[in-house]
Amino acid sequence: MSSPQFEEQYFEDPNFPPGLKGGDEVTGYGYFPDYFPIVEAQLSALAELSQAASLLDAGCGKGALAAYARQDLGLRVTGLDRSRHGIACAARSFGGGMSVRGDCARLPFAAAAFDAAWCNGVLQYLEAAAARAALAELARVSRRAVFVSNIAAAQRHTEWGRRDQLTRLYLRPGQWAAVAAAAIAPGWHVSAVPFEGEAAMVFWREPLNALFPLRFVELSLERMQRLGALRRSPPGLDEFYRRRSR
Ligand SMILES: C[S@@+](CC[C@H](N)C(=O)[O-])C[C@H]1O[C@@H](n2cnc3c(N)ncnc32)[C@H](O)[C@@H]1O
Repeated sequence: MSSPQFEEQYFEDPNFPPGLKGGDEVTGYGYFPDYFPIVEAQLSALAELSQAASLLDAGCGKGALAAYARQDLGLRVTGLDRSRHGIACAARSFGGGMSVRGDCARLPFAAAAFDAAWCNGVLQYLEAAAARAALAELARVSRRAVFVSNIAAAQRHTEWGRRDQLTRLYLRPGQWAAVAAAAIAPGWHVSAVPFEGEAAMVFWREPLNALFPLRFVELSLERMQRLGALRRSPPGLDEFYRRRSR
C-alpha cells in the first residue's frame, strides 16, 4: 500500500503559503488556529449527540484531532490513515497507540466496532468507486452516527483549488449525500449539512432519529459561534431549514 502524495512533502511542505492549508496537513503538528475551532465544534457535537464513547477518525493525518478527542472529550479514538508519515506522527500524539495504517475503503475493523465515525477532508482524494466503498465502510463499522466532510465544489475556483493537484471529487453537499445514500446499508439515513467551505453530511440510525441532523447543525454552529469561528451564517442554512420543514 503506497500513497506517495501524502507522505512528508504533503504534510510538511515549507513552500505552501501559510494559512492556505487548514487541517492536520500544516507544518508540525496540529491545526491552523482559525480552522481548529470549526472541527472542534463539529466533533464535540457529533460525540455528544450520538453519546459516543468510541470513535474512528478515518484519514486522521498526523493525529491532532484524534489527540484532542481523547484528551478533551474523553473519547476512545482509533486513528487510521494511509500515510506512513501521518501514522508515524499520529502514533506519537496523545493516546496515539491507537493509530493504524490502512485504507478507508477497506477498513480493518469489525462491523459496529465504534459508536461513531469521523472522516474529514479525505474522500475528495479518492476515485469515485473507492469513495463509495469508503462511505459504505464508515457506516459498516459505526453503531450510531457518521460525519463526513469534503472540500466544497466551489473551492475548486479558489487559490487553494488552483494549487491543489490531488482532489479528484469536487461535489456539492447534496451530491455527496446522494452518493452515500446509494452506497450505505439499509437502516442508515443520510443528510447533507450546511457548513461554509465544506461539502458535509451525516449518517445516522436508530436510536438516533430524524432530528439528529438538525440538532447536529444547531449545536455545531452554536459552538463555532462561542469559539469565535462563525463569521456569518452558512449560505446553505436557510435551504437546509426549508427542506426539513417540508
Ligand atoms: C487533508 S488530510 C486530512 C487529515 C485530517 N482528517 C484533518 O482533518 O486534518 C487528508 C488525509 O487523508 C489521508 N488519506 C488519503 N487517502 C486515504 C485513504 N484511502 N485511506 C486513508 N487515508 C487516506 C491522507 O494521508 C491525509 O492524511
